[in-house]
Amino acid sequence: MSQLSPEQLARYERNGFLVIEDFCKASDCERLRARVEVLVAEFDPRVVSIFSTRQQTRSSDEYFLESGDKIRFFFEEEAFGAEGNLREPKEHSINKIGHALHDLDPVFKEFSLNPELVELVVDLGFSRPLILQSMYIFKQPGIGGEVTCHQDATFLYTEPLGSVVGLWFALEDATRENGCLWAIPGGHKIGLKSRFVRAPEGGTRFEIFDDSAWPLDQLVPLEVKKGALIVLHSLLPHMSHANRSTKSRHAYTLHFMESDCHYASDNWLQRKAKVKR
Ligand code: FE2
Repeated sequence: MSQLSPEQLARYERNGFLVIEDFCKASDCERLRARVEVLVAEFDPRVVSIFSTRQQTRSSDEYFLESGDKIRFFFEEEAFGAEGNLREPKEHSINKIGHALHDLDPVFKEFSLNPELVELVVDLGFSRPLILQSMYIFKQPGIGGEVTCHQDATFLYTEPLGSVVGLWFALEDATRENGCLWAIPGGHKIGLKSRFVRAPEGGTRFEIFDDSAWPLDQLVPLEVKKGALIVLHSLLPHMSHANRSTKSRHAYTLHFMESDCHYASDNWLQRKAKVKR
């Protein structure tokens, strides 16, 4: 069954993004939020080392680099005091959870495997889309960090380019105050500016193809209500500002990939488990 009208497809093609209000039921948003509360309550923050010595930095790199087929927790940069201790309770300190909630958690799996999502991605021109990664993003009140302007293909490089697409579900209202997405309409036609890859010597690095500045004056805010879906082309430049408001801005994201595209072996995200639908 088709999910997108010709008019919506034309808008996506033109802008590189598409906002669909009321895509999810409020009860779905609340189910995911309630489930994440349980996951955070069960999470022991002592397993994560993010501090400044060399050894600890390496542990933190490994914690991140091994997260492709796990459920792992990443903190806001501003969550820590000078001593390296959490300033606030963990439930107000986590930036995101990634990157295999859709595979490993039954509640997120049920949401993610909704056939309507695959149908929507097929409408975009994919033939057999697979879920590549999932993230739960908190954008915490007060300390939710800025995400600088980027293209998702920088982090998830595939050939041909454009064989990945992001679905961004607003689990709460996203406004300019609490750090909504901003995007450059039509910016998916600029070309890929960089890649984030695993370095042969360990860790990660950026490969830069084009170091010109983003035309940030062309960014437009994508303010949406709880339940909205924003579809993001993998070459679309987008960002979000820090959240200095008193309201969180929870979102769940999925990235789908065409099953027969070439997935780069030096992408930061690698999965030992077979990618599942
Ligand atoms: Fe992104």
